[in-house]
Amino acid sequence: MITGNTNILGLIGDPVEHSVSPHMQNSALEAMDLDYVYVAFKVPKNRLSEAMKGLKALGIKGINVTIPHKRRIMKHIDEIDETAKKIGAVNTIKISEKTKGYNTDGRGALRALKSEAEKPEDKRTLILGAGGAARAIAFTLAEKGARITVSNRTPEKAKELSNEITQKTGKRVKNVEQSKERLKTVLKESDILINSTSVGMHPKDDETILKSAQMHSGLTVMDIVYNPVKTRLLREAEKSGAKTIDGLEMLVQQGASAFEIWTGRSPPIKTMRKAARRSMEETQ
Ligand code: ATR
Repeated sequence: MITGNTNILGLIGDPVEHSVSPHMQNSALEAMDLDYVYVAFKVPKNRLSEAMKGLKALGIKGINVTIPHKRRIMKHIDEIDETAKKIGAVNTIKISEKTKGYNTDGRGALRALKSEAEKPEDKRTLILGAGGAARAIAFTLAEKGARITVSNRTPEKAKELSNEITQKTGKRVKNVEQSKERLKTVLKESDILINSTSVGMHPKDDETILKSAQMHSGLTVMDIVYNPVKTRLLREAEKSGAKTIDGLEMLVQQGASAFEIWTGRSPPIKTMRKAARRSMEETQ
């Protein structure tokens, strides 16, 4: 029941209407009988500063931050976690006397990988993409000591990201051209493949950068795309005998990580997974 004591958590972004986070977070809060609610706030680009002041003034306890605010929000926060600082983007904020920003996208990816691969940080990983999602994943894995190769359609961006990672974490990152032949060669020597591009996202469900012929049964393949849940890449990976992790799992794990930051408690992952899946089915 919502009372005068109920704590508020939320999401700021634009658009937020199709977010699965409210359903996913509320199901976990309810299951644990915590006196919190999680709501979505649609905040346009030009009202971010006002929104941050409002959140603090209203005593809201924590928020997730999504497009288009993940980078710009940083100048409105008192303290930023080291990894989030390196990534250059924040997706979770804990609000108390002071505000502290985190990035749980990379942590979510790592936690999702742990469900299928033992010690993913010790594995050889090929990351497709060099955008915001790739940055979060690559920095988080590099900090944990992973051996990473980055491949992007625009190779200059992969090079820039790799150089930045080396500069900030001291870890060397390799690059490979995004051609099927070159990727196949690198994959032979890899344990993990992560698609952190938008390729395969609805309505272009049939697109994939790689097919089964380039993959193998020793791989664990993770896709950040969660609409559809089973992307073409994951279907191709299954055909090659590889293990797969879908984007919904990463979404759930980044949400679980945010939940821990706000409440100091570990949420019931199964409940969150079920709620995220149901919410996806209802809103798509
Ligand atoms: P996000 O923040 O979700 O990562 P982004 O910063 O726009 O979004 O990055 C999108 C990523 O998907 C980029 O790596 C992009 O490659 P480019 O840097 O060459 O644009 C990649 N991407 C998008 N469409 C693609 C396609 N059709 N083939 C290959 N890569 C694609």
